[in-house]
Amino acid sequence: MLFTPVHAIATPRPTLLFALASDDLEEVRRVLESGEARPNDDVGPQSALAFTLANDKLKNKMAMVKLLLAYGADASALRDAEEEESQERPGKRGSRPMSKLLEDADPATRYYIERANSPQTRRASALIHRSFFRPLTRVRYDLVGQDRVLEQLFRVLSMPTVAPIVVLLCGPSGHGKSLLARKFGSLLDVPTHTVNMTTLQNTRDIWKSHSIDPHEEPSDRSLKDFLMENEGKRCVVVLDEIEKAQDEKILSSLLMPWEYGRCSFEAGHRHVDVSKVIWLGTSNIGHDLVFEHQDHRPAPETQLSREEYIDLMALLRPRVSERLGASLLSRVTAVLPFVAFTTDEKMAIAAEALYALAGDDVTTMPPATRDLIVRTSLSSYIPSEGARSLYRAVSTQLLDTI
Ligand SMILES: Nc1ncnc2c1ncn2[C@@H]1O[C@H](COP(=O)(O)OP(=O)(O)O)[C@@H](O)[C@H]1O
Ligand SMILES: [Mg+2]
Repeated sequence: MLFTPVHAIATPRPTLLFALASDDLEEVRRVLESGEARPNDDVGPQSALAFTLANDKLKNKMAMVKLLLAYGADASALRDAEEEESQERPGKRGSRPMSKLLEDADPATRYYIERANSPQTRRASALIHRSFFRPLTRVRYDLVGQDRVLEQLFRVLSMPTVAPIVVLLCGPSGHGKSLLARKFGSLLDVPTHTVNMTTLQNTRDIWKSHSIDPHEEPSDRSLKDFLMENEGKRCVVVLDEIEKAQDEKILSSLLMPWEYGRCSFEAGHRHVDVSKVIWLGTSNIGHDLVFEHQDHRPAPETQLSREEYIDLMALLRPRVSERLGASLLSRVTAVLPFVAFTTDEKMAIAAEALYALAGDDVTTMPPATRDLIVRTSLSSYIPSEGARSLYRAVSTQLLDTI
């Protein structure tokens, strides 16, 4: 006869609630990543998302909301409740109805919740739903805007290919090119090596270069060491500011690995298999094209349509070819232009800037002050500097406020 042990009787473990309530971001991440708790498990009478949104004492509130959304927390419940409430008598529910939660949220949190709810988000994610690249869909909660870039990137990654994957992220400064490149490897949990292309002098310098990402631990490892260590494995090489390489010979080192997925670091030496490397280049090439295209759009305040984005890609590719050379470009899988931000996107970035720069002071700041700082910073926005101009504007205002 079999007995069911008492502890096997299903009581949901309060791990997620516990981690959320103790404001422990790393623990929330661990619990979600390990699958110990799922983001849509109810924690008490409400969802984890509603619990977090309602809890004003949490210092890591915004980050935790983003994390819950990134791991698939269902935000539609907040929306549905809003509709239901509008049909009911006001004041029927508790002191803080769902719609109030959204209304009170800062512009960044609101932006990310809207984004999680959008059908376009779901359609684009479906492209890589069954692939190794699926965790990349979480980048939506690190990067504001650039929905068409992500959609196209997911399309490219969903295509079966034997050739190495080479993607160039192009366009104006401060629009998230390096940010996306940096998150790519960390979301996929594969190693990343970042080359600062501006510092290379000679043809073979690229293989000797050390990784420059300030978010990685500094190491003495060269790109050559990195590629040998990760031979035949998935990994990411970021070539930051690729068009600023001193001369074309430096780029010619990339022809062989991009064409054949093999590379030899010294003449006569054996070939190393780099076929699984994902090469991500960033560059400002075509930033003027992006703004010209933006100026000619019939509805510049809206997001680009897919057709508009396809037009822009077609305009950009020849420009990049001119700069980097046609033989190199013929080996590039996709050239993705980054585009101008909408007002909602700028508000979201400014709100994130405020939370990042003000630290704990934000929790004690009157909501009206927070609002004012975010709105005022938008008037100092400089398109050619993108998010960086918003960070600067918020920082200047904080100096005057605190
Ligand atoms: N799309 C974006 N969403 C959120 N923050 C952004 C975005 N673009 C830029 N930022 C902010 O500005 C900083 C610089 O962006 P970065 O990606 O380095 O710009 P670039 O396009 O010049 O490579 C980032 O670290 C981030 O804080
Ligand atoms: Mg950059």
